[in-house]
Amino acid sequence: MDRLIALSLLSTAGAFAPAGVHQQQHAQLSSSSLLVASTPVVQTPPSPLTEWGSKISNIRVAQEEMRKQDLPEFGPEISATDLGIAGDKAAQLAYFKENAMELKQKMLDHGAIIFRGFDLMKEQDGFQQFYNAIEMKICQDPLQSVSARPTADGKKDSPVYEAVNKESRKNFFIGMHNEFVGTRAPRAAAFVCFKAAEEGGEFLIADGRRIFRDLDSDLVDELYDRSIRYSVMELPFFGWIDNLPDPIQGPVMTGMKGVVSAAINAKVDFDVDMLWGEGGYDNTRMLQARSPGQPAIVNHPVTGEPTWFCNVHSHSSKLRKDRESVYGAERFEDGASQINKSDMYFGDDGIITDEQLKQMDDVTVKNIRYVKMTEGDVVLLDNYKCMHGRNVFEGTRKHAVAWFEGWEGENEMKKVSSSLESVSA
Ligand SMILES: [Fe+2]
Repeated sequence: MDRLIALSLLSTAGAFAPAGVHQQQHAQLSSSSLLVASTPVVQTPPSPLTEWGSKISNIRVAQEEMRKQDLPEFGPEISATDLGIAGDKAAQLAYFKENAMELKQKMLDHGAIIFRGFDLMKEQDGFQQFYNAIEMKICQDPLQSVSARPTADGKKDSPVYEAVNKESRKNFFIGMHNEFVGTRAPRAAAFVCFKAAEEGGEFLIADGRRIFRDLDSDLVDELYDRSIRYSVMELPFFGWIDNLPDPIQGPVMTGMKGVVSAAINAKVDFDVDMLWGEGGYDNTRMLQARSPGQPAIVNHPVTGEPTWFCNVHSHSSKLRKDRESVYGAERFEDGASQINKSDMYFGDDGIITDEQLKQMDDVTVKNIRYVKMTEGDVVLLDNYKCMHGRNVFEGTRKHAVAWFEGWEGENEMKKVSSSLESVSA
């Protein structure tokens, strides 16, 4: 069961939403007491709790404001060649140390930065020197509680993880998403290329502010008003219940739901709701785990700007199926396909219509930037402002990622942002 849960969470990039603040605090306490109680194998701190921000009082007005703005260039590039330091790792490291604050401010303003031609980051050791030089604060993968994501060098405690390079997933287009699992979301990330795929495999980024700006106002209003929730796994092992005598089907279903809920909630540090549904080619009974409701748009934790923070593009079953018809179905090696199902609903469990999904897909796709990375290239991104995904590929690909709980100087940036807000208010 653990393995199945881990697989399904990993394959959907995670999406359980927050419980209330009280429960979040509980989750944090239980995870830190776990760290104390058990052998501290992992030195890296856990991924931070997702910051949902305060409620946006009028989402239509917030969107109008966003439309009036001249948004900064998304994902500017910095080239070692342009800086005159190509081929000189020591000079590159010195550059990162000297310009640490400026680079982090740039990431915050522009959503992401693309570093090109830096030899320093061709190997994992240099990549780690890079993010230490700019004083990013490393954290664990948000999936750490189910230990699902392999590390790039295969070492158990390494904070550098594989960025979905598996052969079995190469024709699976990874839809756009912000990284978050359960109650946890890293604040930022650095994606690095150690080996480019022979064909395709581009890293994809999209600006959450622009997606929010470009969506239809009525749809934004409805999504914000009703909120959203995800289903992240389906356990299709319950067809046998249909063969039981009618009077005991109800009690058995209730019992099974309780057992499965307890098993899942014991393993992951967030609450899930198990709901009975039907699916598959034979409409067999299955259990779906659904997250609590969450907003599709959040205020940025540092700058307070509203940004699209919604994984519909990767999590919608309809959009994924549509892409499968273009790229082919994912080739599973381990029988996990039946539980590898995620979907998105309104927070009240209402179905999101095909037209609404198409609108979200169109706006997302319009905003995707394909970043063809070569060895040593790094994309440093703000996980709240910048969504990511990955194109299909041929050949072998070795990209990796490090997650950050924050960075040195973040509090100062927060102060500047809040004083600017009070000046403009
Ligand atoms: Fe991801």
